[in-house]
Amino acid sequence: MSPEEPRPLNVILIGFMGCGKTTVGALLARQLGFQFIDTDQLIAQKAQLPIPRIFETEGEAGFRSRESAALDSLAATSHAVIATGGGIVTVPNNLPKLRALGLVIWLNPPEPILYARIQRNQDRPLLRSPNPRQTLHDLLALRRHLYAATAHLDVDVSDVTPDEAAYGLAESVRVHFSPPAA
Ligand code: S3P
Repeated sequence: MSPEEPRPLNVILIGFMGCGKTTVGALLARQLGFQFIDTDQLIAQKAQLPIPRIFETEGEAGFRSRESAALDSLAATSHAVIATGGGIVTVPNNLPKLRALGLVIWLNPPEPILYARIQRNQDRPLLRSPNPRQTLHDLLALRRHLYAATAHLDVDVSDVTPDEAAYGLAESVRVHFSPPAA
């Protein structure tokens, strides 16, 4: 897409597991009056399987191809906040597709906050390792530049409540999508 081309009216949230995409995304959608879409939910619904089960039966490669298909299925979407899985940026073809879909925001809290949040949740197959803290660190090191290359904006909203984060993001989104003054 050329820089002049208007962006579709969607907000795409990217970032590592535990960064708040789903929680903040649902609140942001309500603030904006947009629908809320979560790619992990789309994948699980279509497969009729929970995400950990897809990893068990099809491996990460199978999951990634389902994830890319879910992203493709959103190409004509408008007026949506779309929360994506933390690894969606690991498939190079997905990066231009994410940017073409709307305004891409990277939720980027500090690593210790991510770790504190994901410790409470066993649903992340990639972090089921003998040393989840190290795994998180290594995955984040691999992915950070991919999030940075994909996002139009990056924000750390870890010091405010999810409601406050959504409120602040909604303001930025409105400014971003408002037509330039004549
Ligand atoms: C993944 C993140 C998960 C989910 C899957 C793989 C990843 O989504 O898509 O377990 O590779 O980082 P969340 O980021 O919503 O946890």
